[in-house]
Amino acid sequence: MTLSCQKIGDWYCAGVTTLLIATRNLHKVGEIQAILGGAFQMLTLDDFPGAPKVVEDAETFAGNAAKKAVALATWLNSNPSLSDRHPRPAFVLADDSGLEVDALGGAPGVHSARFAALDKHENSPDADNNGKLLHLLKTVPEEKRTARFRCVVALVRMADLPGENASPVCYAENPETIASVFDGACEGKIIGEPRGRNGFGYDPLFVPAGFDKTFAELGDETKNQLSHRAKALAKLHDHFNKLVI
Ligand code: IMP
Repeated sequence: MTLSCQKIGDWYCAGVTTLLIATRNLHKVGEIQAILGGAFQMLTLDDFPGAPKVVEDAETFAGNAAKKAVALATWLNSNPSLSDRHPRPAFVLADDSGLEVDALGGAPGVHSARFAALDKHENSPDADNNGKLLHLLKTVPEEKRTARFRCVVALVRMADLPGENASPVCYAENPETIASVFDGACEGKIIGEPRGRNGFGYDPLFVPAGFDKTFAELGDETKNQLSHRAKALAKLHDHFNKLVI
């Protein structure tokens, strides 16, 4: 990737490109850093404690990822002094991901994080989500337990945000018009009981196609080569390679 020190509107690049990632999940940040490489400096929501909490109520992963990225970029754009303590991010990045199980008509899908407590906006503990999944699949035979993880990464370039006089309502209503989205999927199946200690979420129940171990048994190094998030981030990486920044 070619890096230069050009200005992008008011948002500059000083040799290293700064990304603000809409997460507090250090696991995700590490995965993103590992795939995009050292030319990027990552800031997270921990660096901006006043950042708005975005309700993930879209019906698609792309809708939620774009909503988060645009909301955060808009907030940052209207509060330029927030970046006094950090380099100004040139891009804001957000992801949304989850598990689709065929025998459940694609559930838990966008509700993956709060599967065991769908009536609440709060996430459920992984053990509860996994317990509910196993319960629902109790009578489903192995050959019908096919599933996939999906991930969509949304990217907003700060320089692409409309100027101060534009109404933020226009793009907040349809965030997918202003964010670039990149998706990835990883096919596999759900086994009958948890196995392995690595990873998070549904990893102990998910065996990727072509393997006989769960993501939680395979560990980060292998998972990062074949995961849904790795595939979406690889597309993002290609996109950055084509951008002149
Ligand atoms: P979010 O993208 O952080 O909103 O995550 C949604 C939920 O999907 C997580 O809380 C997990 O339950 C599940 N999920 C997403 N990616 C993975 C993964 O790589 N392994 C296991 N579970 C995942």
